[in-house]
Amino acid sequence: MRWYLTGVKLLEGKRALITGVANRWSIATGIARRMHEHGAQLAFTYQGERVRDEVEKLAAELGGGPVLACDVSDDASLAAMREALAPFGKLDALVHSIAFVNKEDLAGRVYDTSRNGFTMALDISSYSLIALVNTLREGMNDGASVMALSYLGATQIVPNYNIAGIAKAALESIVRYLAYDLGERGIRVNAISAGPIKTASSRQVGGFSRILDVVPKVAPLRRNITADDVGDTAVYLASDLSRSITADVHFVDAGYHAMGMYPPDFVS
Ligand SMILES: NC(=O)c1ccc[n+]([C@@H]2O[C@H](COP(=O)([O-])OP(=O)(O)OC[C@H]3O[C@@H](n4cnc5c(N)ncnc54)[C@H](O)[C@@H]3O)[C@@H](O)[C@H]2O)c1
Repeated sequence: MRWYLTGVKLLEGKRALITGVANRWSIATGIARRMHEHGAQLAFTYQGERVRDEVEKLAAELGGGPVLACDVSDDASLAAMREALAPFGKLDALVHSIAFVNKEDLAGRVYDTSRNGFTMALDISSYSLIALVNTLREGMNDGASVMALSYLGATQIVPNYNIAGIAKAALESIVRYLAYDLGERGIRVNAISAGPIKTASSRQVGGFSRILDVVPKVAPLRRNITADDVGDTAVYLASDLSRSITADVHFVDAGYHAMGMYPPDFVS
């Protein structure tokens, strides 16, 4: 239920850092929108000058918090972001919504993946969560909430998702180990496994529009999900309502992950 129906803002007084906004279709934008509606103060990071204006515009609409450059594959960039973020104050939530895989590795055979393609995918899509947490851990309040975006391809075969799925498997494992590391401070680390949503990144996956067509035909809720659906779950995970939940992978996919077989009347 939305806060304006209940009068309850779940994130009042909390500060969150949102990574991974590239444009208004980014999942991170849906998360930021919902967190802002729930009273959180937001700071943003962006990667690359080409998206800076767009991220600044969105940040201005969502509370006017700081907008900082950060390339997670570059330690100097991470350190500079930490310095620039310090005046914002200690974080209560950290959203990792970052992935990158070469387009040629998002179709065809996994055995064709190059060493460079593998290394880059795992560095930016998986190791980056370790790097971000290590960069910001002293700037997080005890009891804070860290969340990362994953996908079903981490544990199941999704044709063409390929190396991205392998990177998500690593990411989900990293979530569990970081949850253990940070648990003694009451800091929780979880993944949201989102259903398919059309974004700049997902459009790179071979046959992506076909995936969007299949989900509403077979998922228990018979529909696709939106970035705002993910945002509502992110609000819950950042809030005290989820205080005992950590090291978990939470599906926001209209139930698609639970299907063991397509319905008999499914026509492909
Ligand atoms: N769209 C989907 O169907 C879907 C489903 C499940 C999970 N996800 C995950 O959600 C997250 C967000 O993806 P999205 O679909 O919103 O696409 P998006 O393209 O809008 O977001 C991806 C973000 O990653 C950032 N990024 C890439 N390389 C970076 C680097 N070196 N340093 C810092 N940032 C970098 C990009 O700038 C961009 O903002 C990703 O982890 C993605 O795998 C997406």
